[in-house]
Amino acid sequence: MLDLVIRDANLPDGRTGIDIAIDKDRIAEVAPGIRAEAAREIDASGRLVTPPFVDAHFHMDSTLSYGLPRINASGTLLEGIALWGELKPHLTREALTERALEYCDWAVGHGLLAIRSHVDICDDRLLAVDALLEVKKTVKPYLDLQLVAFPQDGYLRSPNARDNLARALDKGVEVVGGIPHFERTMADGSAAIRALCEIAADRGLMVDMHCDESDDPMSRHVETLAAETRRLGLNGRVTGSHLTSMHSMDNYYVSKLIPLMAEAELRVVANPLINIVLQGRHDTYPKRRGMTRVPELMAAGLTVAFGQDCVMDPWYPLGAADMLDAASMGLHVAMMTGSDAMRACFMAVTENPARILGLGGYGIAPGCYADLVILQAADPVEAVRLRAARLHVIRRGAVIAETAPAAATLHLPGRPTSVDYTLASKAGPPDRQARRAS
Ligand code: FE2
Repeated sequence: MLDLVIRDANLPDGRTGIDIAIDKDRIAEVAPGIRAEAAREIDASGRLVTPPFVDAHFHMDSTLSYGLPRINASGTLLEGIALWGELKPHLTREALTERALEYCDWAVGHGLLAIRSHVDICDDRLLAVDALLEVKKTVKPYLDLQLVAFPQDGYLRSPNARDNLARALDKGVEVVGGIPHFERTMADGSAAIRALCEIAADRGLMVDMHCDESDDPMSRHVETLAAETRRLGLNGRVTGSHLTSMHSMDNYYVSKLIPLMAEAELRVVANPLINIVLQGRHDTYPKRRGMTRVPELMAAGLTVAFGQDCVMDPWYPLGAADMLDAASMGLHVAMMTGSDAMRACFMAVTENPARILGLGGYGIAPGCYADLVILQAADPVEAVRLRAARLHVIRRGAVIAETAPAAATLHLPGRPTSVDYTLASKAGPPDRQARRAS
């Protein structure tokens, strides 16, 4: 007897009427009309069933600290970094742990079951590293947390960053971070990239750098990152996060840059929620959009994800661990409203970041982990449109979170008594049924 069968699911690849059979913690079969009996059945009723949301770029050490010790008055990246510097000496391991665990609860509720978090290693106490390594163990049964050793104050610029980064990696932090555009000169930025990529190559680790998070079109560290990736044979293991300067770069230069990035199989993470408010702050009008060239990078075959970056911290006062917020903002900022482009935005918060993190057993196929989310939506586009309710969140075959379907009760004469915003509802009006069938 199977443990669970999900009936009548729509899948992100467009298949409909699919049953998903689950045996213990793995998917056993994916096919229409599975006959086997199961201890539990969930009728998806033509709704979207997806592998979990994945956030490839987050800061778990600063999350939920909004207003501590004060609010970012200018709203700029640099004031955010300064503010974080004011808060750091007052951090305690207990408070960091509590905030991170609370954030992970939010994430689970929204079907976000894997997060890559940068952790600042420039505090000599490495409090945040110790706290998040403990959190990683605590949440492991329900959420995969991957940590990046992040020299927030600059690998070369901050006096102890070199030692602290090595200590953090020795403790078990698994990805090498960096922030070349925050070093004092372009030359120092290049030197930092070289040193950090060599550390990753020596230790057999992945790299994920905050790179060119700037409106300066001459901030070209991504070129060095791609070149070092190729030199050291790190293809497919290196991620450039943000890359916002690409928005402002000369088009001819970009026509040379993107093929280099593709040859290096560089992974890209754009953070649309943060960068649309942080970038372009020095512009009057027109104000530049603060995001890298997502559709062009996707068209060149690069793996591109949308990350959340920050939720309620010195850099960003909003957010709720909902990757559909990031997908929606990315879609709008990049003008990706074609139907394939909208689907690509959904993939940018599911499959693509899973590839970037190197998650094993991710997907909907026999042998994959039974990690699934049933949404109150018929397909990926409707999920993004509605920030659809995560009706059931399943981890290793067990339901770990549920949300009631969104619906409003109406009190209008001559109108239906309830409104359902989905076009997927089987109880919807006949013309909608016809539209679904066509
Ligand atoms: Fe970041």
